[in-house]
Amino acid sequence: MQDISNFLKRTGRKIGFIPTMGFLHEGHCSLMLKARDEADTVITSIFVNPAQFGPSEDFNQYPRDFLRDYHICKSCGVDYIFYPESKDIYPNDFLTYVEVKEMSEKLEGKFRPGHFAGVATVVLKLFNITKPDLAYFGQKDAQQVAIIKKMTDNLNLDIKLRICETVREENGLAKSSRNTYLTKEQKEEAAVLNKALNEAKRLILEEEMHDIKELKKEVKKYIETNSPNSSLQYIAVTDFINLEKISDLKEYKGDVLISLAAYYGKTRLIDNIIFEK
Ligand code: PAJ
Repeated sequence: MQDISNFLKRTGRKIGFIPTMGFLHEGHCSLMLKARDEADTVITSIFVNPAQFGPSEDFNQYPRDFLRDYHICKSCGVDYIFYPESKDIYPNDFLTYVEVKEMSEKLEGKFRPGHFAGVATVVLKLFNITKPDLAYFGQKDAQQVAIIKKMTDNLNLDIKLRICETVREENGLAKSSRNTYLTKEQKEEAAVLNKALNEAKRLILEEEMHDIKELKKEVKKYIETNSPNSSLQYIAVTDFINLEKISDLKEYKGDVLISLAAYYGKTRLIDNIIFEK
């Protein structure tokens, strides 16, 4: 892959890269199509990265279907699929990890220790292998975006990041490879998460609700009432640059990120909304 990327660069091609863990859906496709639009050569990677899964998480169960993914990539105009094996990415003598401090311990990091070190490490490796000019990420994983952006700035990577909107089902549920774990009923109920985030945005912008505690209580109540089979793990209101908690919404100016995670049975879903205040 590195030889191919070097050749592409020597011949002046602008490389667009989309890292994924496969089991592709329209969310991934939206990134690929944007890359197809902006870059000369589109590379995607499919790699279920063991370093970003905790010991009790779903690494083994994570859905995998290369042939299905291959056809989706082809239909989205992808030129190269990088599909490494674990031993190629993490050989026995592997010792080096990238850590974006502080930001990795917040939000998701509280419940998934080590997750973002795994993400940052593999993304930096994939960048070094595919050598992109442009790299595409989804807002669906907002903390991942903020952390990769910080790593790119801090380590002077010469790569432009493109952040793409979250693609949703008709009922508002964010598309995710993990939605395959949900029953039909759970899929219907989980649409409430997006509605709750929109309600939170409305409460802040229209009703000028400034008390974060009060706001979180309202959103929790909304989810519990409309989705009795859910179990909300957290909801947080932060900025979208350093992921710092916003304490005074009245004074705050800038992008507001509201993130949440909720369980439906054993399936953990995340979603978020970002808007300017
Ligand atoms: P994965 O979950 O496969 O997602 C790959 C990319 O697709 C990420 O940038 C993610 O934010 C984006 N994406 C997922 N669902 C989306 C949706 N509904 N709408 C828009 N974009 C969406 O994120 C990862 O893999 C991994 O952590 C990875 C970056 C590949 C590192 O291993």
